[in-house]
Amino acid sequence: GVYTMEDSPYLMEVLTELRDKETDSIPFRKGLVKFGRFMGYEIIKTMEIEKITVETPLEETEGVVVRDRKNVVIITVLRAAVPMMEGLVKVFEHARIGIVSAVRGKAPEFRVEMNYIKVPHISDEDTVIIADPMIATGSTLLEVIAEIKKYGSPKRIIVAGVLGSPEGISRIKEKHPDVEIFVGKVDRELNDDGYILPGLGDAGDRAFG
Ligand code: PRP
Repeated sequence: GVYTMEDSPYLMEVLTELRDKETDSIPFRKGLVKFGRFMGYEIIKTMEIEKITVETPLEETEGVVVRDRKNVVIITVLRAAVPMMEGLVKVFEHARIGIVSAVRGKAPEFRVEMNYIKVPHISDEDTVIIADPMIATGSTLLEVIAEIKKYGSPKRIIVAGVLGSPEGISRIKEKHPDVEIFVGKVDRELNDDGYILPGLGDAGDRAFG
C-alpha cells in the first residue's frame, strides 16, 4: 500500500516549512528530523500490538508491547536521508542501520550509480525501513530495494519519504508490489530534469549545502 499523511496538520505544517524556499539549512534539517520521527510513529501504528500485564507500584494493569519495534533495520540513502534517519532512530532506538550511497545521473537516463553499500544482517523477522526523502523518478529506490533483497527476506520493506511523484511511486509499486510506501504527500508531477513539482527543491543541497 501507499500511505500518505495529508490528514496530519502537524506533518503538513512541517512539509510547508520544508517547501518554503526561505527555509535555510538549519530549520530544513530539523524539519527532516521531525518528519522521520513522525513517520516512525505512523509505521508503528501498522505493527502488531501484543497485550501484556504490567505492575504499577500500586497494582497490576493491562499494557501493550510492539515487539516488531525492536526488529528494525533502517537503510539511509545518502545524503538527504541522514536527518530523517535521526528522527526514525528516536522512535526505533534498537534499529540496526545500513548506509547506501546512490548518485543519480543526468536526464534523460537518470542512471543510478551505487558506490557504497553497507547493510547489517537482515532476518526474516525484521522490518526494513528505507529512508529517502524524495521519490522522484524512483530509479534510486529501485536499485536500493533490489540490492536490499539480496541481503535477506525481511518481514516487511517500507520506504519512508517526504514527497513522491506519481511516476516514481507507480514504478516502485510495479516492480516491487510487496514494498509499502509511506510519504507525506504525492505531488503533482515530475519535470524533465527529474524534479518533483511543486516539490521542495533538491533535498540534499538544501539540507547540507
Ligand atoms: C536525490 C534524493 C533521492 C534521489 C531521488 O538525491 O535524495 O535519493 O535524488 O531521485 P530518483 O527517485 O529520481 O532516483 P541526490 O542524487 O540529489 O543526492 P543528495 O541527496 O546527496 O543530494
